[in-house]
Amino acid sequence: MPLVTTTEMFKKAYNGGYAVGAFNVNNMEIVQAITEAAAELKSPVILQASAGARKYANSVYLRKLVEAAVELCDIPIAMHLDHGANFEVCKDCVDNGFTSVMIDASDKPFEENIRISKEVTDYAHSKGVVVEAELGTLAGVEDDVQVADDKAQYTDPDQVVEFVERTGCDSLAIAVGTSHGAYKFKPGQNPKLRLDILEEIVQKLPGFPIVLHGSSSVPQEYVKIINDHGGALKDAIGIPEDQLREAAKSAVCKINIDSDLRLGMTAGIRQHMAEHPDHFDPRQYVGDGRQYVKDIVHHKILTVLGSDGKA
Ligand code: G3H
Ligand code: 13P
Ligand code: ZN
Repeated sequence: MPLVTTTEMFKKAYNGGYAVGAFNVNNMEIVQAITEAAAELKSPVILQASAGARKYANSVYLRKLVEAAVELCDIPIAMHLDHGANFEVCKDCVDNGFTSVMIDASDKPFEENIRISKEVTDYAHSKGVVVEAELGTLAGVEDDVQVADDKAQYTDPDQVVEFVERTGCDSLAIAVGTSHGAYKFKPGQNPKLRLDILEEIVQKLPGFPIVLHGSSSVPQEYVKIINDHGGALKDAIGIPEDQLREAAKSAVCKINIDSDLRLGMTAGIRQHMAEHPDHFDPRQYVGDGRQYVKDIVHHKILTVLGSDGKA
């Protein structure tokens, strides 16, 4: 099956009451872990590359790794640009084999966000590529951009229809309480997804695919393994997985997860090195990291996304 866009995936997800996982890829082991887990569970999947990933691994390597996964796994796979900062980055990805791009002008004023997002949509659509745009601002860290909690803003339901109509975007990322990074909320803070705002948005945009960023839940067992073996992570929690599952049953068709994979990789490597301090073959410890990432993707598909058996 060739690389696909998200159009069909989202239609089925919306009608089926589940979401497709969008997992960030940075190297071969992460691509393998995600796609092997998805293939075993017969789940569609989105592989997404950030600017940081493209700088670290080089876009050509990432594209070829994804092509290898497409050849080896018989499931629908989309390749997506995560947080495209401007028209040029999005155009580069559209021109180089990505099937989906995100234009993230959510830090700009409403009119400017619309203008930039529409420019990307017009170009991408002319090449058969779909576009995710964002309205509202998440807290947390993404690449070099850090948004303080007090600057984060929930998406205003009164703006979504105009935004979608004027930009022509194919899916909409919204801010309803999730945030980027491994340090989201302090233990005891009782974080809540604003399902009421999501519901208001769904009423205004019936049938339209919604995207949630910042959806890692910070698995405490991985944090413990890392800190038990020499790590120094701060205590933090994310939005509980059952709340994300509720969103996936509604109009949320794409759920972005990166930090939990990073924690899995690091936990696997630290555990391996603690048990085998004499090992120095990267295949041994990175291989364990890959297995931990695979386990967490399995878990997300079954517990948060509900996309198993939907390939
Ligand atoms: O939302 C951001 C993703 O976690 C990507 O992170 O920009 O450090 O690659 P990155
Ligand atoms: P997390 O940091 O919660 O994994 O969010 C990832 C993300 O939104 C990528 O765009
Ligand atoms: Zn994001």
